[in-house]
Amino acid sequence: MTEAGPFQQQPAERATQSLPVRVAIMNQKGGVGKSTTAVNLAAGLALRGERALVVDLDPQGNASSGLGVERDDIKYSMYHALTEEIDVNGVIQETGVEGLHVAPATIDLAGAEIELVSAFSREGRLHRALERTTGYDAIIIDCPPSLGLLTINALTAATEVLIPIQCEYYALEGLTQLLQNIGLVQRSLNSTLSIEGVVLTMFDSRTRLAADVVREVREYFGATAYDTVIPRAVRISEAPSYGEPIEVLDPASKGAIAYADLTIEWRKRHGR
Ligand SMILES: Nc1ncnc2c1ncn2[C@@H]1O[C@H](COP(=O)(O)OP(=O)(O)OP(=O)(O)O)[C@@H](O)[C@H]1O
Ligand SMILES: [Mg+2]
Repeated sequence: MTEAGPFQQQPAERATQSLPVRVAIMNQKGGVGKSTTAVNLAAGLALRGERALVVDLDPQGNASSGLGVERDDIKYSMYHALTEEIDVNGVIQETGVEGLHVAPATIDLAGAEIELVSAFSREGRLHRALERTTGYDAIIIDCPPSLGLLTINALTAATEVLIPIQCEYYALEGLTQLLQNIGLVQRSLNSTLSIEGVVLTMFDSRTRLAADVVREVREYFGATAYDTVIPRAVRISEAPSYGEPIEVLDPASKGAIAYADLTIEWRKRHGR
């Protein structure tokens, strides 16, 4: 048996949260599948009857556009919610999926990171904003590829972290730093934050390297690693250009099946 590491959490502990579960999808490494996972996990939950909110905390706005919300549709964004110019409820928009809402981001959000530096309780802005939302079963926060103030806000507001790891050569590089930062937030800002899961993405079954990465990650993270592995699939990369989650665009595709499996596994872990 693999030794139980610091990542193993008791499922019962998670199920007792009274506020909605708030998941920060985080990895400071770029292009590992954070936004794709945020969009498709949240959509998967909504398609199964849960009310889900995606909070786009990345100035690139990929989760917003992936859900069909384009720059021109965004009057107020997470920038306004974090600077407290607009109540977060005035920022949230509906998406094409019933039960799925999004609090979008635009490039303005990069400014919030700077403007908030000297602000009062700057790390707790998102937490405060999300406390004013009601009616969600799950809130999924898409983090930018950095460890700056936006990510710190996400970790302060979240109940748990989900880390996507791309099946590639440098997969585990930077992970120590990531875990250190989560530890720092746990000690100073959010003692109940847990690392709920690690999900392997862009798996290419034709390479031995990908299989090696899966094995290494499973050895390191034990049961924290999801059984579901997301394959590299062209349809997944095409879906954002349609502004649709993969399960809506092409439900029979292998990418859609993988994200459906991930959603089901997530729900099982959360006693749903
Ligand atoms: N399973 C997959 N198969 C094929 N392409 C994928 C898959 N997952 C993500 N992609 C594509 O890879 C690119 C990076 O994915 P994504 O934007 O989700 O990563 P990210 O971690 O959010 O990136 P960033 O750090 O820039 O925010 C995107 O073009 C996306 O469409
Ligand atoms: Mg992203």
